[in-house]
Amino acid sequence: MYILLMGPPGAGKGTQAERLISDFKLPHISTGDMFRAAVKAGTAMGKEAKKYMDAGGLVPDEVTIGIVREGLAKPECAKDFMLDGFPRTLEQAVALDKIMADMGKKLDAVLNINVPDSELVSRVTGRRICKECGATYHEKFNPTKVAGKCDKCGGVLYQRDDDKGETVLNRLKAYHSQTEPLFDYYRKAGIYKEVNGLQDIEKVYQDVKQALGKA
Ligand code: AP5
Ligand code: MG
Repeated sequence: MYILLMGPPGAGKGTQAERLISDFKLPHISTGDMFRAAVKAGTAMGKEAKKYMDAGGLVPDEVTIGIVREGLAKPECAKDFMLDGFPRTLEQAVALDKIMADMGKKLDAVLNINVPDSELVSRVTGRRICKECGATYHEKFNPTKVAGKCDKCGGVLYQRDDDKGETVLNRLKAYHSQTEPLFDYYRKAGIYKEVNGLQDIEKVYQDVKQALGKA
């Protein structure tokens, strides 16, 4: 199955992806994670991407499309994959269709995790991530058993640079203006689905599985 998880910053794309990976072993292509890995590794692309990420804007399409093209060509993505946070512009969506058509594939489902803005700021600012294994927590909504330490591996938790102040608001603006228009693109393709992300994490997961026909 080739699926795409959409939703605003903090909607729970990464949180739901963690569960789908664990239950269904779906290869996960998150452009945000790829950019953060490039920033950490100090590559030229990472340095370039960081300028846009820190401002809460989108990394230019040509860079983003390039890393996804490379990711999808890997053998582990031959049968299944789950995109998270890509595409975010019409140009990226058209490019993805072309890349997949060249591989003889097409998207099966686009799942939008719908959460209103009023909830998103507290989700994003309270998010904490494990430095070692990347597991995602929330100070209030999904806390670790021991404060500051990952439940899975004992790693130290950190806060993303772009999960603070004005950057969060800019990310929301970018989402509404550049990414939301894609809903219509995928509605026309007959593959758009929506789940209510304003429920607890496990209930959202049940709805995600149902929408994907995996319940
Ligand atoms: P990216 O990393 O993709 O960030 P994002 O889209 O802003 O989404 P987030 O990762 O912030 O949220 P999420 O939906 O994964 O939520 P999570 O599960 O963590 O992109 C970062 C940046 O990279 C972009 O701003 C851009 O600069 C660049 N970039 C990436 N892709 C790009 C592209 N295609 N084109 C151009 N630039 C691109 O959950 C959030 C928090 O809420 C957690 O603490 C979690 O525990 C909690 N939570 C989750 N679900 C629930 C729930 N149901 N109830 C209560 N709490 C919950
Ligand atoms: Mg994420």
